[in-house]
Amino acid sequence: MNSIKDLHLEFIKNIMVYSDKFKLLDFKTNDTRIFGLLFFEPSTRTCLSFESAIHKIGGKVLKLDYNSSSKNKGESDYDTIKTIEKYVDVLIIRHPEKGFINECLKFIKKPIINAGDGDGEHPTQALLDLYTINNFYDLFQDKPFKIGLAGDIRYSRTIHSLVYLLNKINKNIEFTFISIPQLLPQKGDEFYNYINNNCKNNICYSYSMNDVKNQLNQLDVLYMTRIQKERMDFTFQNNHQILILSEDLIKNTKDNLIIMHPLPRNDEIPETLDNNPKCKYFDQVENGVYVRMAILHLI
Ligand code: CP
Repeated sequence: MNSIKDLHLEFIKNIMVYSDKFKLLDFKTNDTRIFGLLFFEPSTRTCLSFESAIHKIGGKVLKLDYNSSSKNKGESDYDTIKTIEKYVDVLIIRHPEKGFINECLKFIKKPIINAGDGDGEHPTQALLDLYTINNFYDLFQDKPFKIGLAGDIRYSRTIHSLVYLLNKINKNIEFTFISIPQLLPQKGDEFYNYINNNCKNNICYSYSMNDVKNQLNQLDVLYMTRIQKERMDFTFQNNHQILILSEDLIKNTKDNLIIMHPLPRNDEIPETLDNNPKCKYFDQVENGVYVRMAILHLI
């Protein structure tokens, strides 16, 4: 599983069905496979929820400890992955380089799951996001639906995969991208071309709180993201309140709005909002385990 674009609709629906089985019916499996966790970039949720999911389905984990590995003797990522392929049945890889997992497919024969490649994609996050949204709405019905994506749209792999996924299952979804010009999809980029050629979208750039307020009040889902400074090749000063949510800003939003965030967060959602019933980011965290159990079971 490299890109969400490669997944068939039936497979996506099956992941939703099995996520429900694992979450609601305590479905048991006795998996005998060994799963390799190879994280070349930091992670809390993806790494540990995969590890939890592997334990729950009965499988075994082999986890690369980056700091104590032979990377420190100058071994290449290629040799590291080729080696671990000999020890495991499935590889789960996160890497800071966009397109790296796609390159791995050329030299690795065993199944690979993309756990995030640079500012490219994060398909398993998109699947758990879809599952979380579908706990409240049925996106498989082709009804009109409005989702706002705010923050760092340019570098957010979770946004890229989520838009590819939602647009694949429902052509009636309208996407509103809310950010400042530097962090919106850039002309010529893969994601920019995709949204302009394939989906209903409304690119909204502004520095004014009130403009954003008007947009927010129309939405069914608001998906916030952090600014990914580690991926930028320019200096960024975050003094733009436009990218930060507040109680006041969501006061007049729809009653059934759900507010999501892939986490980790910085200051874009203050902790004081965590008990607001519209905020579902810790539901996403929990669902990540069930959805990853389903993915591992079905792959
Ligand atoms: N959402 C997500 O990918 O979080 P981590 O970077 O902690 O894995």
